[in-house]
Amino acid sequence: MNIKSSQFCLVALALLIFVACSSVNIPIPTQADAERGARLFADLTLESLNQGKADHDRYCNTCHNYKPLEKYTTEQWEKIVPKMASKAAKKAGREVIDAVAQESIRKYVVTMCDIDK
Ligand code: HEC
Repeated sequence: MNIKSSQFCLVALALLIFVACSSVNIPIPTQADAERGARLFADLTLESLNQGKADHDRYCNTCHNYKPLEKYTTEQWEKIVPKMASKAAKKAGREVIDAVAQESIRKYVVTMCDIDK
């Protein structure tokens, strides 16, 4: 291997590692998730789970990248969502993530955080 192509390999490898480490899996809800979640939240539907994902997509990567849902427990998420909503409100000087959006994000992250457990 000459110097040029080994340099290219190094750059390609670095790029691959960077991409692999910076992508966070934000799961798309399925009907099975909705049924599992409905055991926790009686009124949960696939539609409301998708709304929760949409709200999470919209609000939860503005200050930092998305956090992996499976890294935190239900108990942690119950505290994290309102904490982040108040951080967002403080930063903007007004309400950003309203009570309805907080509730839909909460149901989404709590349902999806133990997807593989
Ligand atoms: C106004 C800015 C802001 C917004 C909007 C925001 N966060 Fe955060 N978040 C932070 C800061 C600051 C930290 C602490 C430093 C860090 O871990 O990056 C943090 C940390 C976290 C953590 C790590 C655990 C913890 O308690 O420190 C999680 C999980 C998280 N955020 C999830 C979310 C979710 C879910 C949303 C959307 C509802 C969200 N964040 C929206 C600023 C924000």
